[in-house]
Formats: sequence, structure tokens, C-alpha cells
Amino acid sequence: MLAGTDGARPVFLLHDRKMSLDGLEKKKTIDLRQKHIGPSCKIFFSHDPIKIVKAKGQYMYDEKGQRYLDCINNVAHVGHCHPDVVKAGAEQMGLLNTNTRFLHDNLVLYAQRLQATLPDKLSVCYFVNSGSEANDLALRLAWQYTGNKDIITLENAYHGHVSSLIDISPYKFHQLSDAEQSQFVHVAPSPDVYRGKYRADHPDAATAYADEVKDIIEKAHIKGHKIAAFIAESLQSCGGQVIPPVGYFQQVAEHVRKAGGVFITDEVQVGFGRVGSRFWAFQLQGDDFVPDIVTMGKPIGNGHPMSCVVTTREVAEAFMSSGMEYFNTFGGNPVSCAIGLAVLDVIEKEDLRGNALRVGQYLTNVLEKQKQKHPLIGDIRGRGLFVGVELVKDRVKLTPATAEAQEVIYKLKEQHVLLSADGPHRNVLKFKPPLCFTTEDADLVVEKLDPILTELEEALGLKANDSANTEHEKRRKLSKDENGHGGLNHSNEGVQEQTRQRKRMKT
Ligand SMILES: Cc1ncc(COP(=O)(O)O)c(C=O)c1O
Repeated sequence: MLAGTDGARPVFLLHDRKMSLDGLEKKKTIDLRQKHIGPSCKIFFSHDPIKIVKAKGQYMYDEKGQRYLDCINNVAHVGHCHPDVVKAGAEQMGLLNTNTRFLHDNLVLYAQRLQATLPDKLSVCYFVNSGSEANDLALRLAWQYTGNKDIITLENAYHGHVSSLIDISPYKFHQLSDAEQSQFVHVAPSPDVYRGKYRADHPDAATAYADEVKDIIEKAHIKGHKIAAFIAESLQSCGGQVIPPVGYFQQVAEHVRKAGGVFITDEVQVGFGRVGSRFWAFQLQGDDFVPDIVTMGKPIGNGHPMSCVVTTREVAEAFMSSGMEYFNTFGGNPVSCAIGLAVLDVIEKEDLRGNALRVGQYLTNVLEKQKQKHPLIGDIRGRGLFVGVELVKDRVKLTPATAEAQEVIYKLKEQHVLLSADGPHRNVLKFKPPLCFTTEDADLVVEKLDPILTELEEALGLKANDSANTEHEKRRKLSKDENGHGGLNHSNEGVQEQTRQRKRMKT
């Protein structure tokens, strides 16, 4: 394995493909990682991490050749190492890679292709290198365009790891003291109709949640603050696979624009056809909703680090008016754009949006059958291949089954299925696989999940189709019907757990 030494340091022939696949002993990799990689860079399954050495489609392989079904990688959007994407990148890399200060067709052709997927008014692109860079730039655009400073974000949101985004990411900043949190950031309730403030039984949850934003704006104005932007993922991912009620974004946009702010949709996780019926998840709200700024990342390059901010001509002109040049060494380089074009081609050629819709529907159906059998499953929600399964110990109190969700993840890993759990209580199993996921893959996960849930339910004393649980749910429905909003307390246990929020590993 060691190919030579450079003074005292070992040198590895990483250009030798066979060698890099054989690689180091797993223990050695772990030791070197502990020694040289920042300890806050967490690893999956820390007591027995997986060493992945290659991947194809929706499968990943460890150093022993063991295959894992990947249900969580929304970066390898069109499938790990898709040959068309690899070829496009390699060919362009062999020809030229440089920055956007030179004319190059890949940049303009890619911008044109991307624009064709969006509403007309979103016509100007800035290419950057990561979701964080995209969101940071989106904030700069909003600040410059509006001349205002305050940002409204959603409960449990995550928008990136740079300082400006930690400030607007409750998912992260709840771990900081109050004094460390920005006074320019306001947190609106997550539009979660399962566990949130206004639930599925509310006569108009979209308006109720949007009114909360209006309220925040009014309170900010009283304090002399002015709103620059409202930012939200089109469907909250780390926040617990939350699907906002239709009409919510339109009403929020109206309140925010009236206050002089802009609407930023973060499509870093959910864009590029994952939701199946539309190319962008914000379009699920209806064609009458168009954001002012859209940010993209993860799936855009199928694993190649690239990302993008798309906005209106007006916002772009205002950004220009500051007189400051925007230069990004790597953003929009010919290799990234060649890769981006190949990803769009594959989505179309292989009808991956159609597949997301069909397989997503199939997955939801088989999971619904599991819900009938397993009292631990409280809710199943999703669009296309973005599906969340919320585990609860009690369907009335919605007591989060946090430890059980972790157990599910670990047990599935032992059976070579990779899934993760997230949300404020880390009890939402999240499916966001490469879009080449098949109905057979869906069957396989569910086949493995079924006995794990049974075992956990036995340990908790919950019986399949537990009559008490079902009765509880009936009563819950009844009381909701009676007073219009269920009279349910938002589980105190849940709130307490949220404030105790442990440090979490994001995926
Ligand atoms: C919704 C969302 N926005 C932004 C980011 C940041 O992207 P990156 O890690 O590429 O900087 C993430 C990353 O997980 C994300 O989930």
C-alpha cells in the first residue's frame, strides 16, 4: 500500500486506482482521521463507521465489496458516478478549466438551460461552489437590493455552515447562548401541519402560519427594524421533512414584499426534479408563486462541488449598483458547467422526474401499509422521492420516538441499508435517495424495516394496531372535530426535548 516516502511521511499512489480501492486498513483510516481531521467533522455510525470505496447508481460499496442501498444521498442525484456526468467532467477537464473572466460557451449555455426550468422572471445566475456560498450570496443580494437588514427564517431551518448562515439557522444556533444569536434574525414557526402550531385539522393552516410572519414583521417594525428577506427551504429537510400547506408561500411573499423584503427559496436539497411533479419544489405551491431569489446546490453537480443563485434582473442590477465586482475563482468554471449540463441531460433522458413521481408514490404506498400495522409510525409525508416517516411513541401526544429512530437507522445499516433520521426531535426517517431508486429498492427497505419496528414496538409494549393507540387517535380526531383545533397540547415533552437539543450530525 505504501508506495514510498517523502522524508518521514508516507506517500500513497492515489493515482493508482487499484491501490486507492484496496486502500489502508480500515483501522488505519480511522486512526489517521482522528489524528488529522477536525473532531467536529462527525462520521456516520461512529462506533463502527463504514468505509465506502466506490459507488454506482443507488448503491455504495465498502472496502470488502459489501453493497449498501443508499436511501439518503440527494447529492448523487442522477445516480452515483453516472457515466455521462463523469465523461462530461473528464473531457472538459482534459480540455480547459478556468474562471468566468474569459468567455466560454459552457457558462452561458448552462445558464440558459437552467433558466428554461424556471419562471421567466428568474433569469440571472451567479455560479458558486456550495449551498452555503449560494445562501450567503443570496443574503448579500437581499441586503443590497432592499437596503434592509433583518432576516426571517423558519424554526429548525438549516441553510449552511458559514457565519452569516449559522445566524439564520435555528437548527444550529439553538446550540448557542442567546447573546451569541443575531438580533437581526427572526424565527417564524415551521409550517408543519403534523406537529406544528397549526395542524392538519386547522381550517386554514396556510393563512395561520403566514399571519405569524406578518406578526413578526409588525413587531420588528415597532422596534425600528426593517425586513430584507424571508428565507425558507421549499420543503424543510433537516427541519423534519416538512411540507408547507399550499398558499403559505404566496401569503408570506405578500407580507414580506409589502415590508420591502424579498423571498428567498432554498432548493439546495429539494430541487432538480426530486419532487417529481415539478422541477422545483417551490412550484408545488402553485404557478402564482415566484420567489425573488432561488439557491441551488447538492444535486446540481451530482457530487461535483458547484451551486448557483438565480434571481431577477432588478435584484441583479441593484447588486451591481454597489460598484463592487463579484468574482468567484471556481464558480461557473467550464468543467462545472459541463457537469451541470450533463446532469440536466440525464434527468431528461432517463425521465428521472417521472421515476421520482412513480417510485415516490410506490414508496409512500408501501409505507402507508406499514403505518396501518405499526403504531410507531405517526406520519408519512412527502413529495416524489422526498419522503419523511415520523416515529412516535404515542399517536395522540406525538411523543417523539427519538431513540427508536436511531435504533432503526443502526439496525438498517447492519442490513446494508443506509437511512438517516432528522428533524427537531431526530425522529423523522428521511428518504431522499438518488432519483434512479426503484420499486424493488423501496420493497427491500420496507422488508427490512418491518421486523425492526415490530421488535421495537414489543420492547415498548406497543402492539401492532394497538387498540389503545387507535382509540387515542380516534379521540384525538374527535376532539379536533369538536373544537376545530383539537385542543391538543403541543407535547411538552417535545418542547423540552427541543430546548435540550443535542448536537446533531447533518446529512
Ligand atoms: C437546505 C440546505 N441549504 C444549504 C446547505 C449548505 O450546503 P453546503 O453544505 O453545500 O454548503 C445545506 C446543507 O446541508 C442544506 O441542507
